[in-house]
Amino acid sequence: MKPGFRDLTPEGPRVTVRCGDHNLALRDGANLAAELLVAGVMPFRHTPVSGAPRGPFCMMGACFDCLIEVGGTTRQACLMEVTAGLEITLPKGRRDA
Ligand code: FES
Repeated sequence: MKPGFRDLTPEGPRVTVRCGDHNLALRDGANLAAELLVAGVMPFRHTPVSGAPRGPFCMMGACFDCLIEVGGTTRQACLMEVTAGLEITLPKGRRDA
């Protein structure tokens, strides 16, 4: 994963989050979508019908392009905070709609 975003406030305690096959050290309590972008995670998912890549766009819960799976539940990353022990799966490829 190659970072494309710069962390403007890198201070603060970090916690370990599992994202796919990677362990990421993200800032505890920070916005999850923003922290994943800084960590270089992109795309967050692929659409179920066409398989097109998607990532955070609105950062306020309106577009649903930041959908990820956390502990087996589909969630909007932009509406979540980083907490220790999150198990994130990035939906990939076409699925039956
Ligand atoms: S970035 Fe649009 S809903 Fe999360």
